Amino acid sequence: MDKISIRGGIALQGDIKISGAKNAALPLMTACLLTDKPLKLINVPELSDVESMAELLSQLGVVINIEKNADHQTIEFCAKNLLSTTAAYDVVRKMRASVLVLGPLVARSGEAHVSLPGGCAIGIRPIDLHLKGLQALGATITLEDGYVHAKAPQGLVGTTFTFPIVSVTGTENLLMAATLAKGETRLINAAREPEITDLAHCLNSMGAKISGIGTDTLIIEGVDCLHEATHQVISDRIETGTYAMAAALTGGNIRLKGTRFDLIPTVAHLLQQAGVHLEQEEKDLIVKAPSSQRLQGVDAMTEPFPGFATDLQAQWMALMSLAEGASMITETIWENRFMHVPELCRMGANITVHGASALVRGVKGLKGAPVMATDLRASVSLVLAGLIAEGETLVNRVYHLDRGYEKVEEKLRACGADIERVR
Ligand code: UD1
Repeated sequence: MDKISIRGGIALQGDIKISGAKNAALPLMTACLLTDKPLKLINVPELSDVESMAELLSQLGVVINIEKNADHQTIEFCAKNLLSTTAAYDVVRKMRASVLVLGPLVARSGEAHVSLPGGCAIGIRPIDLHLKGLQALGATITLEDGYVHAKAPQGLVGTTFTFPIVSVTGTENLLMAATLAKGETRLINAAREPEITDLAHCLNSMGAKISGIGTDTLIIEGVDCLHEATHQVISDRIETGTYAMAAALTGGNIRLKGTRFDLIPTVAHLLQQAGVHLEQEEKDLIVKAPSSQRLQGVDAMTEPFPGFATDLQAQWMALMSLAEGASMITETIWENRFMHVPELCRMGANITVHGASALVRGVKGLKGAPVMATDLRASVSLVLAGLIAEGETLVNRVYHLDRGYEKVEEKLRACGADIERVR
């Protein structure tokens, strides 16, 4: 199994092009199921999660054409003839985003059969709100043999649905389903993540009628059918935040190409409080660590957008491990998202977990070690720690990284990091 070997201590200098967002690309890909006309997506990242979603869509009968050039990947999806309405356990278990086929399939075909995702390393990850929302839209839901069976043979009907808690995939599933429902749907307390805004814009270019985009109330006027469209996937805000923290942690200076401050508003603010210099220069974000003094410890609490993203919590912890003073990091989205703590501690970090909070007392240095993590963002936090640790860090279970970070070692190496994949 591949590993990543890092010899730390080099300040990163150079340019990193930010890829298309994984968490935008996956729902956008499932939007192709809403129409029999082609949907072309530009700037799709080359990631194993994208491959898994493409595999699931082709099992459903979607015809897929991939074009690659030096800069990015464009994929055209055409769901002219759907062959199946079932997403099997094997694929849903591997990638929870597979549940996003539920809303589009039931809206277009009047039925969908999707395996229940079950738990995963970061928590229970229920989909009860997706199901309640679809029921409110008129679908009949039954659970049998570990599968959700959703049926709406006469089509879905617009409704008002209030999310009791903010759910990103829940909002995406219902937003897509409502585009083809009869009449108006209002999604209240909807998630406002940039990936949802991107999905709504794409759906509108396919002929949907969505307003309130970017707010917590989405209003969808159902239409009879959607049509052909071409859409460019937004830049990955989690990759942006991760590399900004890599620059900050190593005392470096990086230009993040093709990304924006407003994709990471809270994280950018906290980085500035910690002493990092950030500047938007047209389409690029410049990140400079302070030249002499250490970063300052700053508290962070994960929250739905525009708050601090849970997907950047592990990386922030790696950064705070070396800051001056203490930092309290609180995780409010997932109940089990501190698996990186024991690994960071093995590298010399001083972190104590109390329930949903971790107290990080900054240390002067970390030491390389063989480490492993059980999820995507935890793995990348260990890569960040490895970039500053003395000696060699060997990160195991690289397949987690390949799910969500395009060409991670290539991008870091281009900024001077001593990093390689060991097969
Ligand atoms: C969540 C994060 C997203 C992140 C992703 C992967 C938020 C709001 N969402 O999205 O930023 O990229 O994890 O780490 O930050 N919930 C229910 N019932 C449901 C759906 C969700 O109780 O039907 C709960 C979950 O247990 C969780 C919270 O709602 O506590 C947010 O879940 P949700 O946003 O749906 O998860 P993801 O879409 O995976």
